[in-house]
Amino acid sequence: MSTLGVNLSHFLLKNDVEPALISAIESISNACKIIASKVRVAGLADILGKAGKTNVQGEEVQKLDELANDILVEYLSESKVFYGLASEELDEPIFPEKGKEGEFVVSFDPLDGSSNIDVNVSIGTIFSIHRRVNGTVEDFLQEGYKQVAAGYVIYGPSTMLILSVGNGVVGFTLDPDTGMFLLSHPEIKMPEKGKIYSINEANAEKWDREGLREFIQTLKQEGYTLRYIGSMVADVHRTLIKGGIFAYPSDKKNKNGKLRLLYEAAPMAFLIEQAGGLATNGNENLLKVKPENIHQRTPVYLGSQKEIKQLLELLR
Ligand code: AHG
Ligand code: MN
Ligand code: MN
Repeated sequence: MSTLGVNLSHFLLKNDVEPALISAIESISNACKIIASKVRVAGLADILGKAGKTNVQGEEVQKLDELANDILVEYLSESKVFYGLASEELDEPIFPEKGKEGEFVVSFDPLDGSSNIDVNVSIGTIFSIHRRVNGTVEDFLQEGYKQVAAGYVIYGPSTMLILSVGNGVVGFTLDPDTGMFLLSHPEIKMPEKGKIYSINEANAEKWDREGLREFIQTLKQEGYTLRYIGSMVADVHRTLIKGGIFAYPSDKKNKNGKLRLLYEAAPMAFLIEQAGGLATNGNENLLKVKPENIHQRTPVYLGSQKEIKQLLELLR
């Protein structure tokens, strides 16, 4: 049977993924289908705009950030397979009553690209699954290469789930008729090099890495174009499919950059590497970094082999 069009659950069964991990991924996918339905009608359901509070990151929470977080917490808490949940929108991880026997911990960014919600630009949900080790908060602080699964859902012209369980990257597209994620991209492989760089150049004067401006200048001279959407999920998705480089560097104000290691950088780095690309914090492979705290930030440079190797030669 052609694998195109097979649904998520059947694909995972066909690939002999362990039952508990199938349940884990299915609970995330179910929550994200609900989030997708809310995103689609956000303007009608009075869930645009600010929720009137700030999160642990000191950022203004959008109503959809909160709603997406509530939906994921509800679905994942009932799944019995997650011992612990960590979220961008939760100060501390939570340990669901029904998850006491759970084999996994999950970290997620319930709604990535919040600044784009009100202007109807692609946003997403990012997730990272680790195996439970000793049943404490330490289980969240494992290096990225130990992830058992990582992925994102992008709420764009179509809703897609991009996933890796450690043997390549696959893509599913939400089929409105069946309400199922159907396999649309059986094997996502990054091009060796791209023609696009993706970075917020408004911060260029503040970047604190010698060689970075020179690198960007070189790409311009080589004829690269700039694409920057401002939702990590959308910028990384384009980089995964078309190649090139996405970067959110550290700067004089943000010594560790803006993006969070546990639920933005590490899952995206896992996908990029699984698809044949590279991901670094400017000094070492992002997947080798041992997190010290849940909401730790990190500089992010990820993309095709050519651009990342070229960057690392120039960074001083
Ligand atoms: P979030 O909405 O989860 O806080 O993430 C926003 C992040 C990320 O999606 C994006 O790459 C970055 O913020 C954009 O930041 P700038 O607007 O500073 O470029
Ligand atoms: Mn985010
Ligand atoms: Mn977010």
